[in-house]
Amino acid sequence: MSEYAERMKKKAAAFKGRDDLLVLGIESSCDETACAVLRGKKILSDKIASQVEIHKRFGGVVPEIASRNHVLAIDNLVKEALDTAGVKQEELDAIGVTYGAGLLGALLVGESYAKAFAYALDKPLYAVNHIRGHIAVNFVAAPELTPPFVCLIASGGHTAVALAKDYDEIQMLGTTQDDACGEAFDKVARVLNLPYPGGPQIQTLAEKGKPVIHLPTPFKGSDTLDFSFSGIKTAVINYANTLKMRGEELPAADLACSFQELVTDIMSDRLVRAAHMCNCNKVVIAGGVGANIRLRAKVAEKAAANNLTAYYPPIRLCTDNGVMIAAQAMCMIKAGRSPADYDLDADAGVKP
Ligand code: KG4
Ligand code: ZN
Repeated sequence: MSEYAERMKKKAAAFKGRDDLLVLGIESSCDETACAVLRGKKILSDKIASQVEIHKRFGGVVPEIASRNHVLAIDNLVKEALDTAGVKQEELDAIGVTYGAGLLGALLVGESYAKAFAYALDKPLYAVNHIRGHIAVNFVAAPELTPPFVCLIASGGHTAVALAKDYDEIQMLGTTQDDACGEAFDKVARVLNLPYPGGPQIQTLAEKGKPVIHLPTPFKGSDTLDFSFSGIKTAVINYANTLKMRGEELPAADLACSFQELVTDIMSDRLVRAAHMCNCNKVVIAGGVGANIRLRAKVAEKAAANNLTAYYPPIRLCTDNGVMIAAQAMCMIKAGRSPADYDLDADAGVKP
């Protein structure tokens, strides 16, 4: 351990029991550069520089272009986040940065910036797992929430149900065997000629449709908590191709609606079933697909019917943001995790 890391460990030891820490969160794992300042569970600032418009014309995120735009955005965004929060950089207690999962080049931009920033200020730096950040943002959105709870992780890169045993302790109960649900939303959107990112587009189109198209239910009759979305996605593609070959018009709204209903049924079922299995009365939604109104409605309805309390962040905090990274850094501090050393590396494929 370096002398810097030894010193940071001592600084972090003094954080014990404090719930008013000033933490800066930095996120750059995909196509949003995001920075936020939290004081405890209070959001002092929340800045996002989205690259969605840049990547839209390519139909998805182009990694190298994402990295370059993070480089352009990050310094100003950190300054803006501090200014809006009314906080001087010297006043920060700690910094959290996403080290994975995500696009390697994009991660390295945020991480290099955060390492230099933390080192120059002599502040502890926490290496945050992005997926855990999606979970942790719920502690900010609902300050009364405490572990344990059962959690649905539904993002562009991951889909799982997990038991959050403590602030930084997760037990996986089921994961996707192939595509993530957000990935399936994005791929189906492409088949329907909708722009990137597909999730919100499918949601809007689905409002005009009915769930009348039969799509296959994965693991039918099984009580597994695992997920599989590639069969559903392939069924949508085949359905669209068959109609195209016949020269018939694609009922895009019905297809979007049928897809969304099936996928949100599966996810809400798994979440409630996992809560029963764990004998847990709190269910939590995390990740970008958590913004989906049908998923939120179904989880609320099934939770109420099963005497469970449901938590989900406001829409803005479901997709990638800096608050979630600061929130997870706070969870790591609560759990007594050590700050990172300056040899911290990025890990594109880290698991939740
Ligand atoms: O969590 P997130 O922002 O990034 C990752 O960590 O992957 O999730 C992005 C995913 C994208 O696939 C996007 O299409 C999906 O979340 N998404 C939605 C909605 N809003 C975003 N999917 C369904 N309905 C939405 N309203
Ligand atoms: Zn995310």
